[in-house]
Amino acid sequence: MVVHTQKDSLVQALSSKYKNDSIGFVPTMGALHQGHISLINKALSENEIVVVSIFVNPTQFNNASDLQKYPRTPQKDISLLETLNGEIILYLPEISDVYEDTVAAQNFNFGGLEFEMEGKHRQGHFDGVGTVVSKLFKIVKPTNAYFGEKDFQQLQIVKKLVEIENLPVNVVGCPILREENGLAMSSRNKRLSNQQFKDAATIYQVLKEVQAVFSDKSIAEINALVTERFLQNANLKLEYFEIANEDTLKTATTKKEGINYRAFIAVFAGEIRLIDNISLN
Ligand code: PAF
Repeated sequence: MVVHTQKDSLVQALSSKYKNDSIGFVPTMGALHQGHISLINKALSENEIVVVSIFVNPTQFNNASDLQKYPRTPQKDISLLETLNGEIILYLPEISDVYEDTVAAQNFNFGGLEFEMEGKHRQGHFDGVGTVVSKLFKIVKPTNAYFGEKDFQQLQIVKKLVEIENLPVNVVGCPILREENGLAMSSRNKRLSNQQFKDAATIYQVLKEVQAVFSDKSIAEINALVTERFLQNANLKLEYFEIANEDTLKTATTKKEGINYRAFIAVFAGEIRLIDNISLN
């Protein structure tokens, strides 16, 4: 596997050796887990060459301590990528290679998607995500780019970004991978204690319960049920639970025919923030 730490050499390699190839792209912030590996394997099966980026993007963190404590395991990540079958290029830049002189997020209008859920609770987060994904797309120029559905709102925002910037990229959403106890795989899980990891299984259990009762109960009843479930577990703090329209991400208060609904949740286990979601119909 070739590792590029500078965009110029990456662009040079892609535009010479791989100029007629379909390029798959998996942007990550590292601390790779099986969820990332499933995206990379899908990209490998659908493209001639796959670029993986590992870059902890400072402009998408609204909390300095979260940025500082975000797990960084580059040597382990490289070893893991080297076990995969297929041609992978790793882009592992420093902040200055991506942002040059100005480490700042651009302001985007994502048509309102950015003001829902994560947007309300992590001010500026999606401007940071949009900024870095736009920069990375312009460097890598992928044919297909792969994003996990765990960050479902991010996936919708990236699709919108491609539309507003008119980028020739096919954005592919991929299903959530889960630990044996149901917890959605995430790099942040590495920060959980054994007890927190066990407690966090409640998140998916509650989402499955919501999915099971969705057709029989009202949204108000479901919201109350979820609040109640988290009051029973002192080690988890519910930040938000919402049932929303899957396309607009607007909060739903009543169910309407012909709309796809999804339940979204954010929970703190100690200081570690976990998000998850599930399709309801
Ligand atoms: O989902 C992530 O890991 C990040 O938000 C992304 C898409 C790599 C942008 O920094």
